Amino acid sequence: MAAPSTPDLMSTIVSLAKRRGFIFQSSEIYGGLNSCWDYGPLGVELKRNVKEAWWRAMVHSRRDIVGLDASILMHPDVWKASGHLSGFTDPLVDCKNCKERFRADHLSDLKTCPKCGGELTAVRRFNLMFKTFMGPLEDDSATVYMRPETAQGIFVNFLNVQQSARLKPPFGIAQIGKSFRNEITPGNFTYRTREFEQMEMEFFVPVAEDEQWYDYWKHARREWYMSLGIKPEKLRMREHAKEELAHYAKACCDVEYEFPFGWSELEGIANRTDFDLKQHSEHSGKSLAYFDEETKQHYFPYVIEPAAGADRATLAFLVDSYAVEGEGKEARTVLRLHPSLAPIKVAVLPLVKRDGMPEAAEKIYADLLKNSVRSFYDHASSIGRRYARQDEAGTPYCVTVDSQTLTDETVTIRERDSRVQYRVPAATVATTIAAKLKEASA
Ligand code: GAP
Repeated sequence: MAAPSTPDLMSTIVSLAKRRGFIFQSSEIYGGLNSCWDYGPLGVELKRNVKEAWWRAMVHSRRDIVGLDASILMHPDVWKASGHLSGFTDPLVDCKNCKERFRADHLSDLKTCPKCGGELTAVRRFNLMFKTFMGPLEDDSATVYMRPETAQGIFVNFLNVQQSARLKPPFGIAQIGKSFRNEITPGNFTYRTREFEQMEMEFFVPVAEDEQWYDYWKHARREWYMSLGIKPEKLRMREHAKEELAHYAKACCDVEYEFPFGWSELEGIANRTDFDLKQHSEHSGKSLAYFDEETKQHYFPYVIEPAAGADRATLAFLVDSYAVEGEGKEARTVLRLHPSLAPIKVAVLPLVKRDGMPEAAEKIYADLLKNSVRSFYDHASSIGRRYARQDEAGTPYCVTVDSQTLTDETVTIRERDSRVQYRVPAATVATTIAAKLKEASA
């Protein structure tokens, strides 16, 4: 059985994601809501594992980065200062005939609709921020915005964090949270949506060290994806041309992944200079300059920002791990997810539903749960089908209880990728699996 051809791969993954409970369309029973997606039982575990892996790499394993969880709604002046109110726009055109909407910068002919050949409207600027009202009055004074990036919550808290945690540049502040953009053309499943989660870190550095830290983070972020199993040949770094740079950036480089729909941005690493701290100081009237105790001088640190998307990363891990292997009866679909990302770490499978096997399996299952190893118990259908179901869910290990277990208290461990099987004492399953998981994430 061959893997689906590239154009079909995305639809195969979308249908696997739904069938196995990774990702559902939002409000499906009402016909769905365009570009909104819900993570099911396997998807929520996968995405949580992606976020935890990021937090471990960016915060817990480092001495120079701390975390933050800022609110989604912020003072409206934040978006004036950041430039989002005036500049966070995309050029938009509508077809007068079929009413389809397009990003003008994605079209080569700005007169003719690429879908129906109809006439297009003139180009308009469209602000991507979602607006809402705070409190009971729905007027301009009550307008607030759903944040379009988590970064601004970090900038406005720069001194709060720096002083309370007693930090000295170079240091970073990391945050994971929802962001909202009223994208004109969302699409490609969870790749471009209007509600999504970002994993952003602002690294504040002495001005003279900006280029060295920019290079450091470009390298570190590419390595992170590879350390979690992304194939190196599917990753590339794309440095932005000067005319492509955002208004705040001195330099920017995207980590791109080759999705079935082409090379696309997973994460951007930007040198934001001192733009944001200076803007907020000016607009709020409160200086966010850092006071250097050694030189007795105030200065605005430069900022290097690795900004990733949790949904995009999750999609990349899903796509990259997907494989169809073997021929005929041996054929299988498998998600070769890194063990630390796999939603279920181990499945416990009694060979048959009698002769004391379910009881022995239940004991192992309880032991795994007690050791906080995310496990799954399955006694339905043939053992081959149960292995196939776990391969397709990306479960790295299966533990099978068979008739030999009842005589010598050993069980079989089957490894997902190699399909190698070996026996271990039933009493050591939890520690064996925990050790394997630890080794894989080292
Ligand atoms: N603070 C900088 C910033 O927000 P960005 O390149 O606009 O930079 C960072 O966004 C990351 O957030 C992107 O690389 C992507 O992974 C994710 N992202 C941005 N817009 C998205 C969308 N509409 N849907 C899903 N993820 C998105």
